[in-house]
Amino acid sequence: MAEAVTGGSGLRFEMDGEIATVTLNRPEKRNAQTFATWSALARIGEDLPEQVRVVVVRGEGPSFSSGLDLGMFAPEPEPPAQHPEPAQHRGTERVPGTDSFAAAAARGDAELRRLIAEAQRGFLWLRRPDIVSIAAVQGHAIGAGFQLALACDLRIVADDVMFCMKEPALGLVPDLTGTKPLVDIVGVPRAIEICLTARVVGAAEALRLGLAELAVPPDELGRAVRDLTAALLAVDREAATATKRLLQGAPQRTLEEQAAAERAEQAARIRSLFAGS
Ligand code: CAA
Repeated sequence: MAEAVTGGSGLRFEMDGEIATVTLNRPEKRNAQTFATWSALARIGEDLPEQVRVVVVRGEGPSFSSGLDLGMFAPEPEPPAQHPEPAQHRGTERVPGTDSFAAAAARGDAELRRLIAEAQRGFLWLRRPDIVSIAAVQGHAIGAGFQLALACDLRIVADDVMFCMKEPALGLVPDLTGTKPLVDIVGVPRAIEICLTARVVGAAEALRLGLAELAVPPDELGRAVRDLTAALLAVDREAATATKRLLQGAPQRTLEEQAAAERAEQAARIRSLFAGS
């Protein structure tokens, strides 16, 4: 298994044949995420080897992720030459202008939006049709942690999972691409209720709402993900990609448009499988 630690971002990246595993690896900080985490995630997506078919996103330790590093809420840090590095940033690489919301707010509006777009880039690739992404979620999945789980195609959770969209309670909005999948899964009214109360959604409710495909005891999470991965890999790659593309497009199409899309994909499959045979 090839392994890489994506320097200072709190992420570990591993490859095993057609399976890539991205691990949030700051358990001592409950896998709090920073801009460095999101930049590294974006780079992983860009450089993902072509052979990868399944991407597993998991967190080391008791929590999947406690969300955004709360150090972001601290006042703007002084230049590091004159002051020691704040404790919450030790061991994490810095992205200019992202040490704190105060530093980010000092930038122009266009620059601020660009920073957020860069962070979102770390999440968006997980929906690519040529891969299936699986979040393996135990313990807390708060804010950015909940959104990272939502960025994946599928969520396998441990019985102790605690999803919480805490951003509005902190004066922010969920901006890491989580609002659309949340609404697609639970609908607007339930999404409003979950986000605007910042309450915890546990495993039983997550299953009922469709936020999780499967809930298992914590010590069975790894095995459940491996079983699902094996089942996904047993299906023809091209057919899986075409089917995911079809399913992803379905909510935006009319029935007639979807039928046309099915025809187009199937014609390509039939030609690819049987032409000249
Ligand atoms: N940022 C920075 N440090 C964090 C952290 C975070 N989000 N979450 C936990 N930590 C640190 C704690 O400060 C503590 O550090 P020390 O050992 O140095 O004191 C360590 O991780 C362990 O934390 P706890 O002792 O609190 O662990 P716990 O298991 O008792 O509780 C927890 C876990 C419920 C996640 C709790 O730590 C917590 O509530 N964390 C804050 C969660 C939060 O509010 N996150 C922001 C979400 S909003 C968001 O994500 C915004 C966005 O996307 C835009």
